[in-house]
Amino acid sequence: MPGHLSTDILVVGSGIAGLWFALRASRLGRVLLITKKSDVESATNYAQGGIAAATAENDAPGLHASDTLATGAGLARPAIVRLVTETGPALVRELHETGVGFSTYVDARGREQFDLGQEGGHHRRRIVHAADRTGLEIERGLVRAVKSSGQVMLSEEHFAAELLLDDSGRCVGCQMLSTDSGEPIVVRARVVMLATGGIGQAYRHTTNPRIATGDGIAMGFRAGARVANMEFIQFHPTSLYGSDINGRAFLISEAVRGEGAILRTRDGEPFMSRYHPDASLAPRDIVARAADAEMKSRGEDYVLLDATHLAPELIRRRFPTIHQTCLESGIDMTKDPIPVVPAAHYVCGGLEVNEWSETTVSGLLAAGECACTGLHGANRLASNSLLEALVFAERAADHLVEAGIPGEPGDIAVSLLLPEDGAAVRRAGALREELQGLMWQHAGIVRTDDGLRHAGDRLAELCEQASSLGRAASVPCRETVNLLEVARLVVTSARLRPESRGLHYNQDHPQMDPGFARDTIVDRARIA
Ligand code: FAD
Ligand code: SIN
Repeated sequence: MPGHLSTDILVVGSGIAGLWFALRASRLGRVLLITKKSDVESATNYAQGGIAAATAENDAPGLHASDTLATGAGLARPAIVRLVTETGPALVRELHETGVGFSTYVDARGREQFDLGQEGGHHRRRIVHAADRTGLEIERGLVRAVKSSGQVMLSEEHFAAELLLDDSGRCVGCQMLSTDSGEPIVVRARVVMLATGGIGQAYRHTTNPRIATGDGIAMGFRAGARVANMEFIQFHPTSLYGSDINGRAFLISEAVRGEGAILRTRDGEPFMSRYHPDASLAPRDIVARAADAEMKSRGEDYVLLDATHLAPELIRRRFPTIHQTCLESGIDMTKDPIPVVPAAHYVCGGLEVNEWSETTVSGLLAAGECACTGLHGANRLASNSLLEALVFAERAADHLVEAGIPGEPGDIAVSLLLPEDGAAVRRAGALREELQGLMWQHAGIVRTDDGLRHAGDRLAELCEQASSLGRAASVPCRETVNLLEVARLVVTSARLRPESRGLHYNQDHPQMDPGFARDTIVDRARIA
C-alpha cells in the first residue's frame, strides 16, 4: 500500500524559486516542500556571479530592461522585461533582509551599499553578489528562513515522479518516491508549484549539478502543459577544462571577465576582439561560439582565461572559491592562465507560464528555470535567472493570496509505479550516457539540419527502448525518461526554427529570419 499525504500547497524543489514561493505562500495554508536531494542541493547553490538588479544610483530599471531586450534577440517580451526589472530591486533588498548576506560596503554618507559586479551585456555594474558564492549564500539564507518560519514542511530525499490530474484535467498533486526506500507516496494538494530547475544533465558537459534532469518540464509536459522555446540552450564559455565534480564542470564566473580577465588562444592571442567590439565581455552566446570555433580550427582542447594582470589581492577577495578550486587543480590563477571550455549552462525555455506563473494546466504553477516567462527570449542576460525566479515566485504567491487557492480535490484513481529492478537501472544508465553524447554533438553550440535530424531519429529510438523503464519506481529510471523527454523537446523545437537567433545557431541557416520572430510552442500533439 502506498503512503498518502495531503496538503494545501505542494512545492517541488528547494532552489531559489521553490524556497521563496514556499515562504510567501505559507500565508495561505499548509505548505509541503519536497526536494529530491538534501535541502540546499540545486543549481542555485552553485550560482557565482550574482543577481542582476538596478540598485545603483547611476542605474535604472529602464537601462536594465534595454540590456535584457537587446540580449533576447527579438523574443524577450517587453511587458515581462519591464515587470521584472522594475520589481527586482526591492525584492533583492528583501532577500538581503531575509538573511541572504550579499557583499556590501559603507559609502561616504555612511549608508550600506551593495558591492556591484559587472557581467557581459550589462551596461552598468548591477550584479548583486556574495563574493563568488552568491548561490550558496542564497540557499543557506532561504533554507534557514523556511525552517524558522515553522509554516513549511520541508521534506528532503523525496522525488516527484508524476503529476496527478483529476477528471477535469486539474492538477491535484503528485506521486512521489522516497529516494531511500523507493516507497511510492501519493500527495494530494490544492495547488502544485514546480520549481525543479533546468536540464543541463541532458548534455555531456554541463555546469549543472546532477539534479538538473528536467523532471518538472517533462512531468508538466506529460500532464498536458505547453512548453516554449526549448531550443534556446545557453552554453557558458568558461568552465574549468577537465573538471568533473560529481557530474558537473566547475564554472569560472563571467564576473572574472567583468573584472578584466581576457580570453586567449593557447598561443596567447586575445581572440575575442576579432569577434565583437566588447571582446571578452561580449554576450555569452558569441563568446561560447567564438571559443568553440577557435578550439575546432586550431584542433585544441581548450582556450585560456587570463587573469594574471589583475591584482592578486582582488582575485583572492572577490573570487575565493574559484581561486581555491583552481589551486586544487594545480593552477594559481594569479600567475597562470586558466584552461577553459564551454559547457551547457541554462535552458531559456520551459513550461509556458503567464505573468502569475500559471502553466496551461489548471492548478499547476511553475517558476524558476523550469518555466518560460518571456523574460529571456532567445538569449539570457547574465545573472537574470535568479532575479526571474525570485520575481515570479513572489508573483505566484501574491496571485494565490488575491485569487484564493482552489478547493480540496476529489478522489482520484492513481496508477502506481512498479517496484524497481536492477536491470532497468543499468539500462537507464546506458541510455542516459548515449543521449548526453548525442545532444552534445548535434544539439550543442553549433547545429546543422542533418545533425538535428539524426538526433531526432535516434532519440525516438532511445525513447522506444526506454518504454521498458516507463513505470519503474526508481529515481535513475525516472530521471532518464525525463531527460529523454526534454532532449526531444530541445531537438523538436530546434528543428522548428530554420534560422539562427540568440542561442540557437544553425550553420545551414546562419542568418536571423524576421519570419521566425516568435516563440516555439510544443505540446503533446506535436511530439507524440
Ligand atoms: P534549482 O536551483 O536548480 O532548484 C531545483 C530544485 O528542484 C532542487 O532542489 C532539486 O533537487 C529539485 N528537484 C528537481 N527535480 C525534482 C524532483 N523530481 N523531485 C523533487 N525535487 C526535484 N544565474 C544567475 O542569475 N546568476 C548566477 O550567478 C548564476 N550562476 C550559475 C552558476 C552555475 C554553476 C549554474 C549551474 C547556474 C547558474 N545560474 C546563475 C543559473 C541559476 O543558478 C539557475 O537558473 C537558478 O538557480 C534556478 O533556480 P531554480 O529554483 O529554478 O532551480
Ligand atoms: C556566472 O557567474 O558566470 C554565471 C552567471 C549566470 O549564469 O547568470
